[in-house]
Amino acid sequence: MSELNHALEHPTYNYKVVRQFAIMTVVWGIVGMLVGVLIAAQLAWPALNTELQYLHFGRLRPLHTNAVIFAFGGSALFATSYYIVQRTCQARLISDKLAAFTFWGWQLVIVSAAITLPLGLTTSKEYAELEWPIDILIAVVWVSYALVFFGTIMKRKTPHIYVANWFLGAFIIAVAVLHIINSMAIPVSMTKSYSAYAGTVDAMVQWWYGHNAVGFFLTAGFLGMMYYFVPKQAGRPVYSYRLSIVHFWALVAVYIWAGPHHLHYTALPDWAQSLGMVMSIILLAPSWGGMINGMMTLSGAWDKLRTDPILRFLVVSLSFYGMSTFEGPMMSIRTVNALSHYTDWTIGHVHSGALGWVAMISIGAIYHLIPILFGKERMYSISLINAHFWMSTIGTVLYIASMWVNGIMQGLMWRAYNQDGTLTYTFVESVAASYPGYVVRVIGGAIFFSGMLLMAYNIFMTTRKDVQPQPAPAAVGAV
Ligand code: HEM
Ligand code: HEM
Repeated sequence: MSELNHALEHPTYNYKVVRQFAIMTVVWGIVGMLVGVLIAAQLAWPALNTELQYLHFGRLRPLHTNAVIFAFGGSALFATSYYIVQRTCQARLISDKLAAFTFWGWQLVIVSAAITLPLGLTTSKEYAELEWPIDILIAVVWVSYALVFFGTIMKRKTPHIYVANWFLGAFIIAVAVLHIINSMAIPVSMTKSYSAYAGTVDAMVQWWYGHNAVGFFLTAGFLGMMYYFVPKQAGRPVYSYRLSIVHFWALVAVYIWAGPHHLHYTALPDWAQSLGMVMSIILLAPSWGGMINGMMTLSGAWDKLRTDPILRFLVVSLSFYGMSTFEGPMMSIRTVNALSHYTDWTIGHVHSGALGWVAMISIGAIYHLIPILFGKERMYSISLINAHFWMSTIGTVLYIASMWVNGIMQGLMWRAYNQDGTLTYTFVESVAASYPGYVVRVIGGAIFFSGMLLMAYNIFMTTRKDVQPQPAPAAVGAV
């Protein structure tokens, strides 16, 4: 490996750490999605929850969310941000050692999560389940990440800071603040702590964190990725630089207030719920500003979509981003939330953002990067990328459509009353009615997951010294 690294070392930039994170993106993507398929199957066929407590749904669900968000999504963000900041600042990372520390530190966090979560060690705060020693490690790695990123920006050779770095910078700062404040806890042993907050305040801090994990981890960071890779892959400049700056400031200013939409009809004061709802509706505008800016960057290059499946990944991810950021504001309206909350509709919304937006833009970016990082002309097989694109798209559509149907059906069944005021359906009837949707989700998820295996094979073949790329098909759409 070290010989290979030496041969591939870029004279100006640190590509080693980018390569490491890029490969781990695919590895953790496969692991996280495999667990996703397993828990989806457990919901369809509960008998899959065997005697072994470590493999129960309740233990594996947080393992899935942590693996896909922080291991897969996080590695993709580390890889692309380290690449983008170097290329757009025309400067090598400020410290190779600190960058290597962030790589190994982040992998240690992930492995610790993979051990402790199945053991049932959890703070029980969603997306912040890890216990305090791991939280401290996360904080140390994250501050080192900030030092590497902003240190590199400070030594840039370009006069201005390209907009992708604004988004990535906001993501790094916001996640540090969110993580440190939400994880404040009083330890009682090495594996157990209690939140520093209590009752409703705890809930509000948690969902201030939870929503902004969506806003900054799953959105701002990936918008940074989008602002670099869409123009690069399309070979066109960003449609409107002005729009990118305006929607950046609007996005960061508004996102931070929207958390209470997760706590509608709870003990949280009404005014706070209304504030969260209004801010969420306003959020549609800056979100669509980014989506439109990305899409319009293709003006004059739409024909490339016929032959370039990497560009397809990037553009279709933007469509899912537009879709989920339209759906989110709708779901934040209290009367709509009264129907959607607790149902599979939320899960459908989550995965239109997670699979359609986060996973597909990351996959597109990694396909763009791999040949550059390994000194190859292009990926081994363009046809396989195309097959992967269709598997991802079909898998996502099956997943989210089945959850929309399930969710709306569940919401309507739960609120159906007879004339004498009794409930029309028992809860278990709504579970039985959800079964077909759960099976469709397993199929969609399995298709998406299988696409990741194709990706791993294609990358493996690309990186091998002795293998020549397959001839590119004339028009990939025809394959
Ligand atoms: C093969 C692909 C995937 C499958 C089959 C899958 C399946 C699932 C299942 C079955 C659940 C539990 C739903 C429930 O409790 O009712 C879930 C939750 C979740 N998944 Fe996935 N998932 C996949 C990919 C992803 C990806 C790539 C991400 C993020 C980038 C993601 C993020 C989440 C989140 C955030 C939740 C929690 C949702 C909530 O609490 O509302 N998933 N997933
Ligand atoms: C304008 C943008 C968005 C708004 C206003 C919004 C709003 C909402 C609302 C109202 C809920 C349901 C809360 C509940 O009933 O408990 C929700 C859940 C969720 N959304 Fe969004 N959403 C947006 C975009 C996104 C995107 C792009 C993603 C992913 C990449 C995403 C990921 C999630 C997750 C993971 C949850 C589940 C949280 C949980 O309960 O565990 N959202 N969102």
